[in-house]
Amino acid sequence: MTVGAIDFANLPKRPRESRLRQGMSLSKGPYEYLTQKVNEIGDAFTLTVPASPPMVFLNTVEAVKEVMAIPGDHIDQSRMPFPIDIGEKNTGFLGGVEHKDGRKILIPNVNSERLKARAADMYDIIKYRVDQLQEGEQIDMTRFVGDVTLDIACFSLTGHKAGPVKDRYKYLMARWLHLSTNNTMFMLGTMVGATRWRHRMHQRYQNKLASGRYGREKRFYFTPWGRAVELKAQLDQMLRNDIRKARAESNNDRNDILYYLSIATDSTGALLSEERVIAESLAVLFGGHETSAGTGGFFALWLLKHPQVCAKIREEVTACIEAQGGFNGLAISELRYLNAALMESQRLSPTIFAIMRCLVKDTQVAGYSLPSGVGVMVSPYLIGRRKDVWGEDADCFRPERWLERKGAKPYEFFPFGGGHRTCVGLNQARQQLKILFAYMLLKTEWDSKYKNNDVWPSQRSIAGTTQPEGGVPITIHCR
Ligand code: HEM
Repeated sequence: MTVGAIDFANLPKRPRESRLRQGMSLSKGPYEYLTQKVNEIGDAFTLTVPASPPMVFLNTVEAVKEVMAIPGDHIDQSRMPFPIDIGEKNTGFLGGVEHKDGRKILIPNVNSERLKARAADMYDIIKYRVDQLQEGEQIDMTRFVGDVTLDIACFSLTGHKAGPVKDRYKYLMARWLHLSTNNTMFMLGTMVGATRWRHRMHQRYQNKLASGRYGREKRFYFTPWGRAVELKAQLDQMLRNDIRKARAESNNDRNDILYYLSIATDSTGALLSEERVIAESLAVLFGGHETSAGTGGFFALWLLKHPQVCAKIREEVTACIEAQGGFNGLAISELRYLNAALMESQRLSPTIFAIMRCLVKDTQVAGYSLPSGVGVMVSPYLIGRRKDVWGEDADCFRPERWLERKGAKPYEFFPFGGGHRTCVGLNQARQQLKILFAYMLLKTEWDSKYKNNDVWPSQRSIAGTTQPEGGVPITIHCR
């Protein structure tokens, strides 16, 4: 059968359900649905969900290796079904030289010395938030992690840790993220067609910039998309002022990403356009927000089920504090058992259930001749559960496995994607999550309906991430 330009006869088999049902099952419970399809169809299958390119899932380590190595000129990641207007000129969407430039500029900002220099500030931010929690207070861990991450992102991106400018930045960021990522907007955008929706939203935002009427224009303001455009325009205004300030002054004391983006040059030696700096900044903000919330939510769930793992982390953290003479964020983020526990949680429940490569050239992958127009998918969830890779206890949460084996190959464990598209913010994300969980476990105990039992929530989808349905409600007890 041929749909559009794609001949499905040459693709791996499709399930019998309607396209709508496939889409709903994938967004409501991707873990179960993908597992079901592997059991029913096998390691290669094609899903055809509405408003997305056909998705060819390949579920062997060898296939993952090949998918990660698909050359850059065979893919166009701006075709991903992602209905949120971050700005087209961000590294996640760009290809070719612009993509390489973007990675070269972004990576030093969220790695090595610049990241290390932020560890103490991350700890200050986390300490402030965790110390405010009251005995008996009820929180949803996914939202708590998301919100603390936003404080940290605000600081890493703009350099503001507290005060009115930080508050204004955070207000705009939080509102814009919430409006852009809520399920109604995501569904609406997906139904209209993700790229078409994104381009329309972008056009409206450009019109608003051209009109210069930020914060005043009432037209469209009563629709969620009108408000999202307005908030983005206001955020744009703040970022643009800061970019111009950074370019006018040379301030060697600054360690924020916006500063480095503002003064960075591309491979032709030119400064990045303001539009690009803003798109990259919003991508950094967006890239780390719901992903960290989802990762933190699942990590909390696994910890609730395994009090002995919490005890071991507390022991390790306490020993580190004694050795360092205090809570040293950097030393904490290098703790082996804590690291192993987080990796184990990401292996079993990665918040991004699959990595996509949008083909724009016919490509041979894993024995299939895949045409331009399809999305090739590999799932860190499915590979993370394979018994031939992880052993008979693949489904068990056992952090010790990471201490027994020497890491994992990038094709066996890829919650942050892989190849020339690997997440640029993985070290930043892991560092902040480890400091947050170490400090929370040190200072608090948790009660929850999920504690010490086999009750698991199903999943929900937020902005392309998978998170525990209903969040992870916990009651705080101070230690
Ligand atoms: C736990 C948190 C995070 C998770 C699970 C996560 C996961 C991912 C995944 C799966 C990809 C796609 C990789 C691929 O296609 O192979 C990605 C890409 C990306 N992420 Fe993250 N991410 C996280 C945090 C962050 C943070 C904090 C930042 C920014 C500081 C960030 C910035 C990016 C960017 C810019 C890309 C695009 C890379 C490219 O296309 O070259 N992410 N991330």
